Parts: sequence; C-alpha cells; structure tokens
Amino acid sequence: MSAANSKATITAETRTRAEACGLEPPRDPCVLVLFGATGDLAGRKVVPSLCDLLGHGGLPEPFVLMGVGRSEHSAESFREHLREAVAEHKPDALKHWDELAPRVLYRRVDNDNDGDFKALADALDTLDREQRLGGNRIFYLAVPPTAYADLAASLGRAGLAAQTGDSEGWSRLVVEKPFGHDLASARALDAALHEHFGEDQIFRIDHYLAKETVQNVLSLRFANALFEPVWNRRYIRSVTVTAAESIGVGHRAGYYDRFGVLRDMFQNHMMQLLALCAMEPPSLYEADRIRDEKNKVYRALRPFPTERIEQHLVLGQYAPGTLDGELVPGYLDEEGVDPESLTPTFAAMRVYVDNWRWQGVPFCLVSGKRLAAKRTEIVIHFHEVPHSMFRSVFGEHIASNRLVLGIQPGEAVTLTFQAKAPGSRMCLRPVTMEFDYAAGFDAPALEAYEKVLLDVMLGDQTLFWRQDGVELCWGFLTPILMGCDCPEQAERLLLYKAGTWGPREAQRLMEPDS
Ligand code: BG6
Repeated sequence: MSAANSKATITAETRTRAEACGLEPPRDPCVLVLFGATGDLAGRKVVPSLCDLLGHGGLPEPFVLMGVGRSEHSAESFREHLREAVAEHKPDALKHWDELAPRVLYRRVDNDNDGDFKALADALDTLDREQRLGGNRIFYLAVPPTAYADLAASLGRAGLAAQTGDSEGWSRLVVEKPFGHDLASARALDAALHEHFGEDQIFRIDHYLAKETVQNVLSLRFANALFEPVWNRRYIRSVTVTAAESIGVGHRAGYYDRFGVLRDMFQNHMMQLLALCAMEPPSLYEADRIRDEKNKVYRALRPFPTERIEQHLVLGQYAPGTLDGELVPGYLDEEGVDPESLTPTFAAMRVYVDNWRWQGVPFCLVSGKRLAAKRTEIVIHFHEVPHSMFRSVFGEHIASNRLVLGIQPGEAVTLTFQAKAPGSRMCLRPVTMEFDYAAGFDAPALEAYEKVLLDVMLGDQTLFWRQDGVELCWGFLTPILMGCDCPEQAERLLLYKAGTWGPREAQRLMEPDS
C-alpha cells in the first residue's frame, strides 16, 4: 500500500484530538522499531511520550510499536514491562496505555546476528501487508552510542535502510547524543551511519530543541519587530545561558564519568541555545535554512586561547553538600564513579562570536549538576543608559535592562526595567513585565520527546542536528577538551559544595568587563 493511499486511515477521533492541541497528525502509517526496548531511555522517555502523543492525537493510524531487545519476552510480558515503566516514570500517561497496548509487539534480536536481522526484515514485511503500514519504518536506537554503528550496519545489510521513493515507504534512523566523544570519533560514527543511511534519513535528537520555550526563542526574535533592532552589540552588553541541574549523576555514572559536562551538555544543548540567541534570521522557517544559519554562528566562534584556558573556562566537580535539607554525596562518592576521577560536573565558559552583530559581546555558558536548583534560562543583559539625568538625585548607577527567557521550570519571558517608585521623592526601582507560558496558553504543550517523535514521523528535521553542525561544535570543543586532558587538570578542577551555584570563580567569567 502506498504512503499516499494511507491518508484515509487517520480516524476522525485522532483528528479531533489533534486539532484540540493545534497539532498536525502524521499522515503516513508506520512501525516504530525500538531497539533497547527494555532499557532506561525507552521506559523513562520514549514509551511514556508515545502514550501522551496518542492522547494528543499525534500518532498515525495504523501505528505499531515493535520493541526489540536481547531479552526473551512474549508480547504480553513485554507490554506488562512497559506498563510498569510508564506507571513509574509518567503515571499520568497511563491513562492512554490501554489504547497503546494492543499496538505493541516484541521481537528478540541479537545485535550481532545477521540472521536475526533478516528475520526482522521478513517480520516487518509481513506486518506491512497485514496492517497496511505502507512500508514506513522508524528505527529508534535507544541503546548505548557505542552500539549505533554496528546496529546501523546490521539494518543496512538486512535491506532495512532502503527506501526507493514514496510509494515504497520510508526508513528513518533515530539516534541520541552523544554523537562521538570528539571530532574524530564523531566523523567515524557518521561515516558508519552513512554507509547505509542518507543524511535525510538520520534524525539526531537534541531534546532541548524540542522544548516549547526553546522553540519560542526564534518566535520572540523573528516574529516581533520590537526586539530585532536592539539584538546586537550596540544594545546588548552580554548574554548568559544557564542550564543548572539539582540532580547528581544518578545511575548514569558509567557514561557520565567518561564524558563529563563539556561533552554531555555543552557540545549539544548549550551550543544549540547559543545558536538560537546569536543566529541571523533565515529567509524561511525551514530545516536546512535554520541549520545553515546556526552553522554560521559555530563557524564564527572565536577559537579558545588554549594556553590561557582558565581565563575563559572554569571547571568544577561537586563535593558533598546539602540539597533541599538533605545531605547528598559528592561526585567521587557516587556509585560507579572512579574515586580519583577528574571529570568536571560544572563548567562556565566565556565565548565570543566574531561577526558584525556580536563583536566583543561575551556569551557566558554555564551548566552543572548538583547546583542549588533546576534552572534553564537565557539572560540578555542590555547596556546601561549612556547618561543618567538622575545622577544628582541618587548617584550614577542605574541597573541595566534585562530580558530573561525562562526555559524551565519558570517558563516565562521577563523584561526588567526601571520605574519610579511611588512617593514624593524621585526614586527608581527595577520592575518586571512578564509573559507566563502556562498562564498565557490553554492548549496542552507537547513534551520534548513527544515533539521529537512526532517530527520523526512527519519527516521534519528542523529540530534535529545536521552532521556539519555536529562537526563544527566538536571542532570548537575538541582543542579545549585536549587542553583539559593534561596534568594541570587536577589543579584546574574546583570543588563546589552540592546545593550551591558552583565554584565562586565562575562569577568572574560572567562579569562582562573581567
Ligand atoms: C541530557 C544530559 O541530555 O540532558 C543529562 O545527558 C541532563 O545529563 C539532561 O541531565 C537535562 O535535560 P533536561 O530536559 O532535564 O534539562
């Protein structure tokens, strides 16, 4: 059955729900083949988000979720496993589970066994015929990144990467960051994926891009005439991008201790937030034009002076401390962490974008674990007024305007400015104007993973990384990582107490004139 013919299969109910969410349901039916189906990512994010997406009318009809893993499961026992995972990680998504469950299947596949992949291909063909799935397949690799290359090769050898035009259906590959651990390994991984899959078939997830408030950065900048004229070095003094987390490394020490905050947060999420603030307006809201503009920002990043790294970079690691009134262990005491580890869990980095718009404006990027609170935000600090007519009344200094784009959990846009405080004397007070996302809109917001899954089904790559962007960011970061990977790293790494805002030295970087 052709993908075009399948349009008729979207049910009226799906459409009604989707319309209520302002959502375009995918027209092509498909099967989502989920590798690592019994793993953490599948249970914590992918499956609960599929439940929610179904509830929002965002799944096509027909749709099948085929879990794939090494463990033995019947369809029944696998469904029970997923139901428990949804109950644990997103209890409110359970209300849609009964509707999703009949669409869930399971297949045991050994990643090293070509015979298993051939059998998988046959099973998918049979499923296509029985359920009229149009030959449309998503292969979601919810497995450790070290397995990506081999899995992509096995899929390719089994003929599962092939797509020969609309009428034969499409094949898409979904991978999560990290895409390599430096420039060379990112290139090697990409070459392996491209052996069988084309760039338009590869969806590299950065879930930050799919957050509503992150998407709103472009709307705010380019759908309002007000901000663009002041969005440059003449009016902006500095920009701070913060992604603070109160959680520690949790059960992910095996991965985190090898990657650390620079690879885990900076190479991807922080670079995307930076690009959204700094990019030029593309001529159209279209995947490649947007990604082209982001790449121009990455190309314009001033190379780090690696011989004076500490002037631009502060690295920290959390020590024991108190969070929400509870004692929490330091990083070195976390299960699975090397007790002599020099892995940074905090970084503050000052970067410059060397172009006409941003020359001389510092962008401070700050991210860390076990900080005082969860807070992701972009703060635009404007220049102070050039001359204060109030100086004879209360001195020289008037705090400058600030625009805060709250990403999470305070999803709001807040402008701080000066106003006269009531009273007979002339006194100024900073006041705020705020747009609160939750209060401003009724429609339910899609969670990041719902949006990611929806866009893969729609074939829209706007919110996914393109390989050239991945390489540009690794190209910027790799010399820094190499500079950190040296005997001096032990002295450079500053301890900070869990539950604080990180090493004090980071404040210095955030001062524009330092
Ligand atoms: C992930 C990182 O990509 O993002 C984690 O690997 C981090 O270390 C997480 O905790 C933060 O995501 P969010 O959506 O909770 O801000």
